[in-house]
Amino acid sequence: MKPTPNIGEYFQHCLIKKENVLNLVNRPFLLIYALVFFTTVLSIYVLCAPSNFVSFTSNHDDDNQRNSIVQPGKDNEKCDLFKGHWIRDVKSPLYTNFSCRTIPHQRNCFMNGRRDKDFLHWRWKPQQCKLPVFDPSSFLSIVQGKTLAFIGDSLARNQMESLLCLLSMEENPKEVYKDAEDRFRTWHFPHHNFTLMALWSQFLVTAKGRVVNGSATGGFDLHLDQIDDNWAQKLPSIDYAIFSDAHWFFRSNYLYEGGNLIGCVYCQEPNVTDLGPGFAIRRTFRAAFSYINDCKDCSGIITLLRTFSPSQFENGAWNTGGNCTRTTPVVHEEISNAGGVDWDYRNIQVAEIERARKRGEKHGNAFDVLDVTGAMLMRPDGHPGLHWGNQWMKGYSDCIHWCLPGPIDAWNEFLLEVLRRRH
Ligand SMILES: *[C@@H]1O[C@H](CO)[C@@H](O)[C@H](O)[C@H]1NC(C)=O
Ligand SMILES: *[C@@H]1O[C@H](CO)[C@@H](O)[C@H](O)[C@H]1NC(C)=O
Ligand SMILES: *[C@@H]1O[C@H](CO)[C@@H](O)[C@H](O)[C@H]1NC(C)=O
Ligand SMILES: *[C@@H]1O[C@H](CO)[C@@H](O)[C@H](O)[C@H]1NC(C)=O
Ligand SMILES: *[C@@H]1O[C@H](CO)[C@@H](O)[C@H](O)[C@H]1NC(C)=O
Repeated sequence: MKPTPNIGEYFQHCLIKKENVLNLVNRPFLLIYALVFFTTVLSIYVLCAPSNFVSFTSNHDDDNQRNSIVQPGKDNEKCDLFKGHWIRDVKSPLYTNFSCRTIPHQRNCFMNGRRDKDFLHWRWKPQQCKLPVFDPSSFLSIVQGKTLAFIGDSLARNQMESLLCLLSMEENPKEVYKDAEDRFRTWHFPHHNFTLMALWSQFLVTAKGRVVNGSATGGFDLHLDQIDDNWAQKLPSIDYAIFSDAHWFFRSNYLYEGGNLIGCVYCQEPNVTDLGPGFAIRRTFRAAFSYINDCKDCSGIITLLRTFSPSQFENGAWNTGGNCTRTTPVVHEEISNAGGVDWDYRNIQVAEIERARKRGEKHGNAFDVLDVTGAMLMRPDGHPGLHWGNQWMKGYSDCIHWCLPGPIDAWNEFLLEVLRRRH
């Protein structure tokens, strides 16, 4: 079974390029180029379209349970934070689109017309303990004087934007860097001398857009043994590195090692072996984590892996009317096929961080996981859907990224708790 197509970054890419695209009207040859690109990308997703979709029904045993702020105790130290379920929470989210001014337009679901708010009133409840409510002052005191970077695609950025909102309750950040395409961002919290970065890297390894007969195919040539310098050069200045990536791996990509083609993902060429996205994901995470362990200037770095974040189109694929219009979470038993390939990709990532952790101990490096996959499989209600403020692709739903505020804020509650346990 092939994975659900993923267009999150494709959306992002379209919006970043929006001005360019509009300018194309006066440049017909470029317009044709854009159309060819668009059609190619469409066909790639058609090829990858899954044959069936997750179907859910609603049934919540825990609707009336409550959660409260807990002081972490001894029991909390050992409990598995990531095994649990969502329970009712009467409290309002920690920030709103008024209190947080940095929510990107595409994630500001309420500004873009989302009306239902019930999805904001759920908390993650680990089976054996409680996940403390995010406390910005605890977070800032742990990371005082340090640099934390989210390294990956637009979902890494999504988590950074959530953290920015959560921390803004305590201190106003100053923007210190933004590149022209807004893919790299740096914020500084002067009172805590804390630096927060988003480093764009679609694949973690070196990748070059694949061009055939002068046209971009939408696919990439991936060099599985060459680390993407966009993050590698910054690594010595980073204390906490949070890695995530996966969605770009579902395109028609070609895989290289030592400069030689070793196979592809979904290329459908008779003489090239299709090794599948799982292979490419495994190899790139292995390469990234090995690079950290081999890096002479990076001793003492804490590396976290944020596991696969599922895309949740229902009633079709992203380009065949698929949407995500649920307004409440689902329970574990309702997740179709126990998460299917989403869970497989999560397992691959977890195996690689575990492998790195064993080696890292000898190098003074720490590796840990933000294992969000299970929790997010239960949150098909947390996506922007039609409410991502798109002008260019009207009618298309975004069932990949997450609304702010929304269930993605729990990722930063996991982050704080993991950092607190290590502190
Ligand atoms: C904030 O959300 C409300 C709905 O809760 C919406 O009406 C408003 O446009 C949004 N405002 C901003 C500044 O995002
Ligand atoms: C802020 O932190 C950096 C390390 O991230 C350190 O080099 C610098 O001296 C600190 N500045 C102050 C004013 O403490
Ligand atoms: C590229 O162009 C050649 C010559 O026109 C053609 O035979 C070939 O099929 C094209 N390849 C693709 C992938 O379109
Ligand atoms: C695969 O076959 C195509 C068409 O015959 C050719 O252009 C290409 O170079 C071949 N690739 C490899 C790796 O042999
Ligand atoms: C979601 O998609 C299905 C199938 O295309 C459609 O029947 C349904 O009306 C859509 N829901 C909304 C709220 O647009």
